[in-house]
Amino acid sequence: MANFGDYQFEIYLNGLSGVMPTMPMTYAELEERGSRALDPWLLSYVAGGAGDEHTQDLNVSVFDDWGLIPRMLVDGSQRDLSVELCGMTLPSPLLMAPVGVIGVCAQDGHGDLAVARASARTGVPMIASTLAADPLEDVASQLGETPGFFQLYTPNDRELAESLVHRAEKAGFKGIVVTLDTWVPGWRPRDLTRSNFPQLRGLALENYFSDPVFVSRLARPPREDLQAAVGTWALTFGNPSLTWKDLTWFRSMTSLPLILKGIMHPEDVRRAVDGGVDAIYCSNHGGRQANGGLASLDMLPDVVEAAGEIPVVFDSGVRSGDHIVKALALGARAVGVGRPYVYGLALGGEDGVVHVLRSLLAEADLLMAVDGYPRIADLGPAALRRR
Ligand SMILES: Cc1cc2nc3c(=O)[nH]c(=O)nc-3n(C[C@H](O)[C@H](O)[C@H](O)COP(=O)(O)O)c2cc1C
Repeated sequence: MANFGDYQFEIYLNGLSGVMPTMPMTYAELEERGSRALDPWLLSYVAGGAGDEHTQDLNVSVFDDWGLIPRMLVDGSQRDLSVELCGMTLPSPLLMAPVGVIGVCAQDGHGDLAVARASARTGVPMIASTLAADPLEDVASQLGETPGFFQLYTPNDRELAESLVHRAEKAGFKGIVVTLDTWVPGWRPRDLTRSNFPQLRGLALENYFSDPVFVSRLARPPREDLQAAVGTWALTFGNPSLTWKDLTWFRSMTSLPLILKGIMHPEDVRRAVDGGVDAIYCSNHGGRQANGGLASLDMLPDVVEAAGEIPVVFDSGVRSGDHIVKALALGARAVGVGRPYVYGLALGGEDGVVHVLRSLLAEADLLMAVDGYPRIADLGPAALRRR
């Protein structure tokens, strides 16, 4: 059976016939070349974080506080990176975190579809954002056999929220991820400096513009009066009055697995578990929402402990295979990446995303082979030591 790490042999063999890789092999080069492929306003939105970006940077550097301890004379010829998540068996723990502007990060303006096709090719599930350049039904149609998740930004119009969730169910998504940390955008100096908020220019709003409930709130269709449609969107987008009491409503809305994203405090984990969620998503939104916080990885062990049997999905700061392995060792069931696949998309479209995902998986897989932890079940806190 093939291992993810075999991607390296493909690359070396291609080299023997004179075919050299065109995509970057390090995150530093991916970020640099991916950044150059994006218009400056888009780069500001993708790369920027909250405040002076201390928390955003910490999300990445905190992984270096931990070291993996290699074990020898373990048969690592066959690795098993498969995981169970919400009743599904996934070939690997890697997920693509929801990113609201991927549509426009692709050269043809249809990045959501390109990412869905990359998901189909790699088996890495896509969590499709509410903020998309193509309607969720079109995104779902490109996912092939790979299960997809729909991420909900809960509008203050309940009927609209229900419509979006029911459309996602009907389109074949296999889980609903409700993001809790973004009912208002955080203070993002890079975007503020350019007065840059892509959605206010009508970008990435196709899920709203294709929604019968949203359209029923407008005097004229979005195509005829974009400004009015965007205005209605801005007034509807966030719901600051949501509280834990509303978890019953979220739960009643769907029979699909329900995952709450943005959970960092163990007490919130317990409330979510008591409310019947299927997974907890430990994330600080990649440091884009609130500066001055701990890194997402800092809270992971406490979140895992509080979640008990309920699986924990993790993201924020994952840039390499060793980051994936460390998050798994600290108890994550699945690990999401955000910016890495966005830069892959900007640089190489669908193929670029596939390359980034295959590289991350290959590096994680080879680390597990070399370090003597061939199955995810072998990884635990004992595989790590704090430096
Ligand atoms: C440009 C951009 C847009 C994002 N849009 C969304 C979104 O629409 N919904 C959401 O839940 N999270 C969104 N996120 C947060 C990601 O899902 C994820 O939590 C974060 O990117 C992980 O951190 P990383 O970029 O360091 O990997 C976005 C992140 C970025 C970089």
